[in-house]
Order: sequence, then C-alpha cells, then structure tokens
Amino acid sequence: MRALILTALAAAVAAMAACNGDNTSVASAATPPPNAYFVGPQPGPDRTFYQVQNPYHGDKSVLADGRRLFVWYNCAGCHGDHAGGGMGPSLRDSLWYYGGDEASIFASITEGRQHGMPAWGSKLPEGDIWKIVTYIKSLRTPDEPDPPR
Ligand code: HEC
Repeated sequence: MRALILTALAAAVAAMAACNGDNTSVASAATPPPNAYFVGPQPGPDRTFYQVQNPYHGDKSVLADGRRLFVWYNCAGCHGDHAGGGMGPSLRDSLWYYGGDEASIFASITEGRQHGMPAWGSKLPEGDIWKIVTYIKSLRTPDEPDPPR
C-alpha cells in the first residue's frame, strides 16, 4: 500500500514537472532573448534590388492624362495650375530639392517630402503616378499639354 502511494506521488510529481517543462519551453519560444530587436545599424546589401523605371518614359500619349491627374489630385492646388509654384515649390523651373530625374520625382510623389509634401503612394495607382511624372518632365518642352498662356 505504501509503495502504491509513493508510486502515485512520484507519477504526480513527474506529471507536474513535465507540465512545468512544457510551460517553460512555450514561454521561452515566445519571448525573444533580451535586445534581440535592438540591433544597431547594419551594412546594406551589395547591390540595388530593384530599380524604378518610368514605364511611360518618352510616351507622349500619356501627357494629357498626366496633366488631368495633376489637376484632379490637386497637385495644382499646392504647386500652381501649371506647376509654376504656390504653397509648394515650382516643378517647372530647373531647381529640384530632391532630384529632377524621373525616379526621384516618382519618389517625391510616392513617399512625400519632409516640408509639407504628402505621400501619395498608398493613394494613387503606380501607373497614375508615372503619368504625372511624365507630365512633369514635359513642362517647358514643346510637348507640354495645355501650357500656360
Ligand atoms: C498640401 C500641398 C501639396 C500637395 C497637395 C502636393 N504637394 Fe508636392 N510638395 C509640396 C511641398 C510643400 C513640397 C516641398 C517639400 C519639401 O521641400 O520638403 C512639395 C514637393 C514636391 C516635389 C519635389 C520637388 C523638388 O524640388 O524636388 C514634387 C515632385 C511634388 N511635390 C509633386 C507633387 C505632385 C505630383 C502632387 C500631386 C499628386 C503634389 N506634389 C501634391 C506640397 C504639396
């Protein structure tokens, strides 16, 4: 009888130990080691993974659309009717704060810029943004649609 009780006790203790063991392992799997998320700056990759390229580069057939979108999305409200400047800087002069190449203009529009330029990347289809970029690149060229009079 005594042996039986001892055996039962041992089994119970073993079960509890197993339980504890399980809990501990679950907890340690869910809890990262301290500082695991706070690694410092790391060197970047050795190459550019993607390059943005204007799918409408040089395509004059999208210029009128780009002009329309520029007005529809109220770019004109801040940058002026013909992008000559307003509350936002002129996009038709030769001065670019963030670069005047197509990829930089695309980045300015999608990501926004620190001094008051909203980010449009989550709001506009990428194709529309590229059409606007194409339109902006046509400003002051003979191809500019609806130029200022
Ligand atoms: C609420 C006003 C506002 C609206 C709307 C707005 N912008 Fe801007 N934008 C700004 C301001 C202000 C800056 C300058 C930001 C800076 O200097 O950091 C700017 C900067 C830019 C630049 C960078 C210019 C440079 O010199 O590098 C581009 C390109 C641009 N906007 C395009 C657009 C387009 C296209 C739209 C419409 C989709 C648009 N913006 C809508 C206010 C606006």
